[in-house]
Amino acid sequence: MNPEVRRAAQILRAGGLVAFPTETVYGLGADAANEKAISRLYAVKRRPPDHPVIVHFASAQGAFAWAREVPQAARTLAKKFWPGPLTLILKRSAQARDSVTGAQDTVGLRVPSHPVAQELLRLFNGALAAPSANRFGLVSPTTAAHVRDDLGNDVDLVLEGGASEVGIESAILDLSGAAPVLLRPGHITKAQMEALVGPIGKKDATSPRHSGGLERHYAPRTPASLVPTYALDREIAKRKDRVAVLAFSRPDERVDYWLRMPRDPQAYAQRLYAALRELDTARCERILVEAPPDTAEWSAVRDRLRRACEAA
Ligand code: TXA
Ligand code: MG
Repeated sequence: MNPEVRRAAQILRAGGLVAFPTETVYGLGADAANEKAISRLYAVKRRPPDHPVIVHFASAQGAFAWAREVPQAARTLAKKFWPGPLTLILKRSAQARDSVTGAQDTVGLRVPSHPVAQELLRLFNGALAAPSANRFGLVSPTTAAHVRDDLGNDVDLVLEGGASEVGIESAILDLSGAAPVLLRPGHITKAQMEALVGPIGKKDATSPRHSGGLERHYAPRTPASLVPTYALDREIAKRKDRVAVLAFSRPDERVDYWLRMPRDPQAYAQRLYAALRELDTARCERILVEAPPDTAEWSAVRDRLRRACEAA
């Protein structure tokens, strides 16, 4: 037993805030049944009160107790992908209060696989509301150091768990309506889920609100643009100010700061947020991001990049 995890569980029981590692990104945890703890969580995140948070559990059994209807598709996906980087939106039970659902009739449920998250959830023996442990709208943290940089003393304890393996937030699948809808793409792909539960739709105007759907989100402070490979050289040549580049290709000597990214989408996702943070500290006027291929395996990375960048 990790003594820090024991301390974390005590802090959470007393209504405190604990940042903890998950396989996707670090979460800022609070007791999901404690209204005061949740309101402090929203204050620290600077998150609007109508944006729901994901509730985390040690097991599917615990998670499904927070839903009043558990469709077969949810059971099938949970069996295959939990613990793991998938969030399911279901109709809420009475346990899920307005404070965690943004007063919607649904709740977001997730069972993370990171061993420290699992140990914490088992010891806490309850439900933890946990948005990503960054201020609202900024890049999610994938290390304990990122959390400390962002939240400083506003969090009571930061549990150490190394760099998050997946690196981008969980896929969110809405199973509360007539047909499944993918609200946020992630490491577990639409095709992997469709193989088990049939066709999955894209979100539209009738899909539930969720903050990941805001246009500018997961964004660095430095303005960033997404540039197609063919235009990268031209964009660099055009710029008169200091520029930082995130690209697949080799550094160009005209550029002040260059980070080279892997051509494998999983490896790219794992490094993405740390890379954006690094480029953000390079004191450049603009970040140029070489757009990854427009294929299904890149869809989660492209989604995050689109939100991090303004139209080029
Ligand atoms: O990987 C993750 O999911 C991470 C780790 C910490 O578990 N958490 C995370 O939480 O990304 P957050 O709060 O940063 O993003 C949660 C997203 C938001 O876009 C929120 O609006 C949506 O999930 N969400 C939560 N509950 C929802 C609900 N009932 N209906 C629709 N969207 C919901
Ligand atoms: Mg977030």
